[in-house]
Amino acid sequence: MTFDANRPDLLVGVIGTGAMGRGIAQVAAAGGMNVVMTDSRPGAAEEARDFIAKMLSRAAEKGTLGKDEAAAAVKRLQVVSGPADMKPCHVVIEAIVENLDAKRQLFGELESIVAPDCILATNTSSLSVTTIAAKLKTPQRFAGFHFFNPVPLMKLVEVVSGLATDATTADTIAATAASWGKQPVRAASTPGFIVNRCARPFYGEALRLLSEGAADEATLDALLREAGGFRMGAFELMDLIGNDVNFAVTRSVWEAYYHDPRYAPSVL
Ligand code: NAI
Repeated sequence: MTFDANRPDLLVGVIGTGAMGRGIAQVAAAGGMNVVMTDSRPGAAEEARDFIAKMLSRAAEKGTLGKDEAAAAVKRLQVVSGPADMKPCHVVIEAIVENLDAKRQLFGELESIVAPDCILATNTSSLSVTTIAAKLKTPQRFAGFHFFNPVPLMKLVEVVSGLATDATTADTIAATAASWGKQPVRAASTPGFIVNRCARPFYGEALRLLSEGAADEATLDALLREAGGFRMGAFELMDLIGNDVNFAVTRSVWEAYYHDPRYAPSVL
């Protein structure tokens, strides 16, 4: 599966317009692509479009983006009513809830809607790309396209190949990420891929110290920032990610490692 990432008529579908989906839609539109987006919660995609418009106009005020460019990017965003409207897309990126059954159901549905050469991508943080794709008729066109939060600011993107992912699918996604100004890195579909595998102890140890009463959240965050040199402490970062999302990721990495206590979620 392949397409020219610099094609002007490229249409990107984004499903799930929460913290991540709206960021992905923003960078795709700012990167010159037309975007259709949808969310299962009524009104959510419209809210996301308004939010993106605000972010782009703020970028224009700051001078990081031209005024005309920002206005043109907003015009490239369109809210649609559901996956059925993703038929003309060249690539569809999913950023819905971190739940295997929900993602599998969505991609099963999408496969019967989009063209056979449309690339299907998941923004999952931790679920197996191989497993999400396992029931698809054409898992070759499926890959992980893992952005980081907040998407417009974070340059790194993991391009994750499952066992069945075609090399051209991963190459095309990596080229698309680069055309949006991102730095793609290739990863295999192992638990947590690269970043979330390395990051688990960052949260896990901080939560352990808190539950042992070693220090409070603010002190532990200050230690990580000032002594550890991190931009954010573990608790601030958990707030940014969303504790529901971070918990789902922790649990899925822990389960994938057969309940290795190193990755165990905190009772907190
Ligand atoms: P979120 O909760 O902010 O947004 C998810 C959105 O998906 C919601 O608006 C919800 O209404 C919608 N949704 C849920 N089920 C749906 C369905 N079946 N069809 C259409 N829309 C549906 O979650 P967030 O943080 O944006 O996470 C989304 C995905 O991105 C998850 O897989 C998560 O693991 C991943 N991710 C999250 C990061 C974070 O820092 N929050 C970082 C990187 C990846």
